[in-house]
Amino acid sequence: MKFGYFDDDRKEYVITTPRTPLPWINYLGSEAFFVLCSNTAGGYAFYRDARLRRITRYRYNNAPLDSDGFHIYIRDGDTVWNPGWQPTQTEPDSYRCRHGLGYTVIEGEKNGVLARQEMFVPRGDDCLLIRLTVRNGSGGEKRLSVFPYLEFCLWDAMDDASNFQRNWSIGEVEIDGSAIYHKTEYRERRDHYAVFWSDRTPEGFDTAREAFLGVYGSPARPEAVFGAGCTGSVAHGWQPVAAQQHELTLAPGGSESILFGLGYIENPREEKWAAPGVINKARAEAMMARYAVPGAFDAALERLKEDWAALLGTFRVSSGSEKLDRMVNIWNQYQCMVTFNMSRSASYFESGMGRGMGFRDSCQDLLGFVHMIPERARERILDIAATQFPDGSAYHQYQPLTKKGNLAVGSGFNDDPLWLIAGTDAYLRETGDWSILDESVPFDNDPLRADSLMEHLRRSFGFTRAHLGPHGLPLIGRADWNDCLNLNCFSEQPGESFQTTGPSEGPVAESVFIAGMFVKYGRVWAELCRRRGLAAEAEEALSAVEQVEAAVLDAGWDGAWFRRAFDAFGRVVGGKECDEGQIFIEPQGMCVMAGIGSRTGEAARALDSVRERLDTEYGIVLLTPAYTRYRPELGEISSYPPGYKENAGIFCHNNPWIVCAEASLGRGDRAFEVYRRTAPAWLEEISEIHRTEPYVYSQMIAGRDAPSFGEAKNSWLTGTAAWSFVSVSQAILGVQPCFDGLRIDPCVPAAVRSFRIRRRFRGALYLIEVENPDGVQHGVKELYLDGKALPSALIPVQEPGRTVRVRAVMG
Ligand code: GLC
Ligand code: GLC
Repeated sequence: MKFGYFDDDRKEYVITTPRTPLPWINYLGSEAFFVLCSNTAGGYAFYRDARLRRITRYRYNNAPLDSDGFHIYIRDGDTVWNPGWQPTQTEPDSYRCRHGLGYTVIEGEKNGVLARQEMFVPRGDDCLLIRLTVRNGSGGEKRLSVFPYLEFCLWDAMDDASNFQRNWSIGEVEIDGSAIYHKTEYRERRDHYAVFWSDRTPEGFDTAREAFLGVYGSPARPEAVFGAGCTGSVAHGWQPVAAQQHELTLAPGGSESILFGLGYIENPREEKWAAPGVINKARAEAMMARYAVPGAFDAALERLKEDWAALLGTFRVSSGSEKLDRMVNIWNQYQCMVTFNMSRSASYFESGMGRGMGFRDSCQDLLGFVHMIPERARERILDIAATQFPDGSAYHQYQPLTKKGNLAVGSGFNDDPLWLIAGTDAYLRETGDWSILDESVPFDNDPLRADSLMEHLRRSFGFTRAHLGPHGLPLIGRADWNDCLNLNCFSEQPGESFQTTGPSEGPVAESVFIAGMFVKYGRVWAELCRRRGLAAEAEEALSAVEQVEAAVLDAGWDGAWFRRAFDAFGRVVGGKECDEGQIFIEPQGMCVMAGIGSRTGEAARALDSVRERLDTEYGIVLLTPAYTRYRPELGEISSYPPGYKENAGIFCHNNPWIVCAEASLGRGDRAFEVYRRTAPAWLEEISEIHRTEPYVYSQMIAGRDAPSFGEAKNSWLTGTAAWSFVSVSQAILGVQPCFDGLRIDPCVPAAVRSFRIRRRFRGALYLIEVENPDGVQHGVKELYLDGKALPSALIPVQEPGRTVRVRAVMG
């Protein structure tokens, strides 16, 4: 069942009922001011850091669900309704929500009144703009009262949700004309405030929640809206809010727009005050003035759309498949931008308080983002590298506002260091900007201990190399990519963190997955050395790689697939002798991507085992058989009920690894089949089962052992976005950025006869046509650049500004 449809021309998903299976959200903003906005105008805003600089409040496990947000109430006689249905849930006569790239438009109609609520965060400004347009389509005059309402958060979202003894005494606001300023803690150490405003003078306002909603009231039935109107309350402590009342009289056919804004302002310390106790509003007034100009809203929205068109213009496919084109050209890239910005911090499943930027997550997010804005990728790589320790290990997470590593989680996730090589590699291939390797970057955020990025990568490689276990495989530490495979944890106490309990470093537990990474990214490291003239170091690195590769084919090979790990007692995890958890997906994907066993047959055998044992109609499960009881020696993975999350859920992130692995063996039919199963556009038809947004990937789909097989969770913030884009753009469609140019090496279903790609690469534009006259799955037999035959599958780097035509003939 569908709850909407794709409008590809406008790059929108159009939702046609407010009762989606779950709130279906969008992200507004892509620089510093961010808003999560659902299809009923639920959500929240923050500046840079969803935990430390939260601007509005949101209650995740509230009921009714998704009732905090950016709601506007319309009172029309006895009827009170919202254009987006929530929170009053008054049944609209019609409803539509268009989620576009960086903007959302909600339209509702009730009793002849049409209301359109348009929302976006303009480029270059720290604010959310909301334009409400109401049109009177009834035969008679309409007198309407319009009430926008939002609830401020007292900045630190964690503290806001727990420290009530203090917080209920500190809230402060100022009201000035049509603007409401939220200035809690500005009197002391903060030099920022928020402002809510409208472009016309309201007839009333409230800033105290209990005045607007009522002490025992609710957003579904605010006392002010259902009663005598706004009261003019001034919040002192308790819960500061911004609510206004606007009276409109509309003749038949008449319409009116009101512009609302929610802005974030920082003042230099010396300029905090206009008068004792009165905040300096100059910057806020300038912001409001920018959008008071007629046409400013539309111009800013237009600019946003143009920016997105330009961003997406870097990679564009015309494949003849509507679904493939919309995933590749619009939604997958859009999600890559969002994961790059958010890491795993703020979604409808990530509270914004728990996790900051993840080291491994952000490194992987770069893979799907770097082609869009390489300069920002560069900056990110340097930020991440600065949270590496001198021994090459790394803080697992850091806060975006401070860019400092999170002590509470610390380090010990032994895959982390190698992801830095992966991210840097993607950047170098995309840009050819080798100067990044010479950038001086601190270790442990300490400028006194800075060294070049090249040195950071050396230590990444060196860390794994120096931490091998009894079988010559890398030690796993607290966990590897699979955060829930905690082989050194042995937790027996409820509530203990599986990731931070126990010794971070066991001398025995090893990871075949990290071994695969070491082979894959160790070869990259060796290549970097070679290109920098460090031939001896390159040779030496390659021989270390070969040793680990041999260990994988020896201790890491189970006979028909790659084993997953050895536990703290040296016992196999992910082997045929295990009673549960016999085969895991991760090492099959990573080891084959690393090329292990590709000549000797283990690679193909391992992928066949994946198909035989792990495949389901909704994607490939992470492991099988699922763990049915808690096993302290394996950790969190066995804590999940069978079929959920890492315990045999369909963890979407590593499905594209199988796509890449299959493609590396030339198996195009199978690669595409695996790609298609988890791709949202193909799941739209089963939205009632899948439940999350049909335009983005989710982290996890419940596996076949779960009662809710096929139900997705944790939409939006997942490494699935980046890896899926890599798998489809590089492995399937075969346009591969390389150090010396673009390689064209598609691996497609035999039935595909042609497709076209437009790729901007290092300033030149490549118009690529791929033909497949013989219906092969892999192999390019002829390649032409502007009509001239090329000797290999590599198109050399072209002059910036040039447009070239490329023709590739498969066969
Ligand atoms: C989550 C984490 C990621 C981890 C994965 C598997 O997606 O963000 O870091 O690799 O789970 O546990
Ligand atoms: C990853 C896993 C999740 C686990 C978390 C711990 O996100 O997906 O299951 O709880 O890591 O940080």
